[in-house]
Amino acid sequence: MKINFIDLQAQYQEYSQEIDKEIKEVCTSAQFIGGAKLQNFEKNLAEFTGVSHAIGCSSGTDALLLSLMALDIKTGDEVITTPFTFIATAEVIAFLGAKAVFVDIDEQTYNIDPTKIEAVITDKTKAIMPVSLYGQCADMEAINTIAQKHDIAVIEDACQSFGAEYKGKKSCNLSTIGCTSFFPSKPLGAYGDGGAIFTNDDALAEKIRMLLNHGQNERYRHKYIGINGRLDAIQAAILNVKLKHFEKELATRQKIGQAYSDGLFTCKLITPYVKADRTSVYAQYSVRLKERESVVKALGEKGIPTAVHYPMPLHLQEAFSELGYKKGDFPLSEKVSKEIMSLPMSPYLTQEQQEYIINALKEIHA
Ligand SMILES: Cc1ncc(COP(=O)(O)O)c(C=O)c1O
Repeated sequence: MKINFIDLQAQYQEYSQEIDKEIKEVCTSAQFIGGAKLQNFEKNLAEFTGVSHAIGCSSGTDALLLSLMALDIKTGDEVITTPFTFIATAEVIAFLGAKAVFVDIDEQTYNIDPTKIEAVITDKTKAIMPVSLYGQCADMEAINTIAQKHDIAVIEDACQSFGAEYKGKKSCNLSTIGCTSFFPSKPLGAYGDGGAIFTNDDALAEKIRMLLNHGQNERYRHKYIGINGRLDAIQAAILNVKLKHFEKELATRQKIGQAYSDGLFTCKLITPYVKADRTSVYAQYSVRLKERESVVKALGEKGIPTAVHYPMPLHLQEAFSELGYKKGDFPLSEKVSKEIMSLPMSPYLTQEQQEYIINALKEIHA
């Protein structure tokens, strides 16, 4: 049986007529940068998340970078985040000359453990950047409470959690700024790179819009040093089509996630733990198990692709060696990175494919 880790081809087949029409309209209009398609997408994003300002940008990485720039984060500042994430989260902090200060994760959700945050706050701390990993929001309320007490900002790295709900509100609408990614494999994916920044703060939104367009406040007048961080009109038009169908896809993702958890109940592995006050969009369906290497190999032999998100926590990466962390500093991140494994997940995974995967795991790793 042929199984894709994420079935983007099946999704294109489903929406191809609408998507092709949108692409053609952008090409015919020759409005490739900015314009009505982008404005319309931003309006729909704001409506979907309930945030007053949704700003399309070039990637999730640039969304995070622009957020830090908007908050004036620079050399000497500290930003608290998790070491158990994709490198982009901490990369942008280092890129601006600031220092990433890591805090270990909660062993059940794999998100930053809020009870360990206050101990590392100093007078240099400017922001906390929790990551809503695998599609489930971090403990945003607890994190916001700490941030308010210390008068610092919170940037939710929602690159994996667009569409998730937390205490009745949408991810990206839970803190000072929310950032998401439209990388093709994300729950809402473009046909190239893309991202968005969300805030209810009018002044921050205005500044972010300038920063992503070379700091311009009017043509050839530059108020800030910015970047070229715009979202292309073609990507906005494609994303707009997918956003229309997104709720339906999310419901399917959740059904598939639940079917995995029910089906794998008897296996010697730990299925995702989703807290009662939130939902997961299952950007990844990740299980934890011992002897990962042999299971990955055995699944591969049965035609089942897997992935590891992520095999090495950031504090042990060579790129962050200057921070001076060592093995043992964040034991839970280190333990989970050795045991985690993601299974094929997309709304286009058929019931037959999913049963095949579940039965294979039962056989290999009962
Ligand atoms: C948690 C997290 N942060 C940041 C990013 C960066 O997003 P992008 O690839 O769109 O730059 C990703 C995407 O892989 C991510 O998963």
